[in-house]
Amino acid sequence: MVLTVRPCSADNIRLAAAEVAAGQLVAFPTETVYGLGADARNGVAVAKIFAAKGRPQFNPVIVHASCTEDLEDDVMFDERARMIAAAFWPGPLTLILKRKPSSTLSDLVSAGLPTVAVRVPDHPAARDLIRLSGTLIAAPSANKSGSISPTAPHHVIESLGDHVHSILAAGACRVGLESTVLDLSGEQAVILRAGAVTAEDIAMATGIAVSYELHPVNDTPKSPGQLLRHYAPSIPVRLKAVDVAPNEALLAFGSLKFMGVRGGGFAKDLPAERMMNLSAEGDLFIAAANLFSYLRILEKSGAAGIAVMDIPDTGIGIAINERLSRAAKSAV
Ligand code: TXA
Ligand code: MG
Repeated sequence: MVLTVRPCSADNIRLAAAEVAAGQLVAFPTETVYGLGADARNGVAVAKIFAAKGRPQFNPVIVHASCTEDLEDDVMFDERARMIAAAFWPGPLTLILKRKPSSTLSDLVSAGLPTVAVRVPDHPAARDLIRLSGTLIAAPSANKSGSISPTAPHHVIESLGDHVHSILAAGACRVGLESTVLDLSGEQAVILRAGAVTAEDIAMATGIAVSYELHPVNDTPKSPGQLLRHYAPSIPVRLKAVDVAPNEALLAFGSLKFMGVRGGGFAKDLPAERMMNLSAEGDLFIAAANLFSYLRILEKSGAAGIAVMDIPDTGIGIAINERLSRAAKSAV
C-alpha cells in the first residue's frame, strides 16, 4: 500500500474523512496518542484494524465521537455518565457504557462484550475528521499490538507504514499516554487503565467515588487489554533504579545528582544516546508526554537494558508507573 502523509489542513482533513467513509484506515492525532481509525459502523473496515495491528480479535476498540450527542444512539448514558462526560469531554477519558440493542456499530468494536468504550478526543483535527466522516471512528492506538503507542507521526510510519492508507500528521501528542479507561457499566465506577484523568480528578469534579482495578482480579479481566503483553520495549526494563549498570541506558526523572554508574562514574556523564531525562525539573506532565518516545530512543541505543529512576506515584505518575511496570514485566 502506498502511504500518504498529510499535514492537518482543512482540505487534508476532508480528504482523510472521505477515506474513512470509504472504509479505509486513516491514522490521526489525538491529545493522547495517534489513533488508527476506521468507520465504526463498517465491520469490514474495523476488521482491517485488527489485521493491521496483529491484534487478537477479542480485544475491543474505543469508539470516538466529535461530541457526546453523537453517541446517544449507540450507548446508554445514565446520570453518572452524563455528569462525567460533561466534566471531562472533550478529553483523555474513555467511558465504558452499556451498548444499546439498537446500536448499528460493528460488533467487532465490542468484541462480544455488552459494552462499548467511547470517548470525545480533545484535538480539533480529530474532532473535525470524525464530524466530516459522517460516522463514528473506531480507533486503537496506531501501533502493532504489544508495542509502544505512537506519540508522533514517524512512530506510526515505523510501526504500521505498510498497513495504513494515510496519516494526518500534527506533531507530538500533548498528553503522550493513552486515555484513562473508566468502566461505568456496573454499580461501582472503576478505572481499568490509568491516564491523565485520575480518580481524584473525577471525585473532585463530580463527587462520584471511583476506584482503581488496574490489574485483572481473576482470569476474566473486565478490560481485555489488561491481559495482553503491552507497552513493551524489546530490551529489559528495570524500575526504581538507584544506579546504572555499565551496559544499561538510563531513563531519568528529576535531578541526576545522586545517580552513579556501577563500578565508577556519574550518570550525568553517560553518552547522550544512553541517557534521556523525562523531566529534569521533575514535572510529571512533561514526563508523561516524553515517556513513549524516550523509551523508543533508548531501545535503539544499543544498551542491553533500560534502568528507570523512581517516579512518584501521584496524579499522572500513576499512569506512567502502570505503563512502566507492564514494560518491566513483559520485556524479553
Ligand atoms: O488514548 C486512547 O485511548 C487511544 C486514542 C487513539 O484514543 N486509544 C487507545 O486504544 O489506546 P486501545 O485500543 O489501544 O486501548 C483501548 C483499551 C484496551 O485496553 C481495551 O481492552 C479497552 O480499552 N477496552 C475497549 N473496549 C472495552 C470494553 N467494551 N470493555 C472493557 N475494556 C475495553
Ligand atoms: Mg493500544
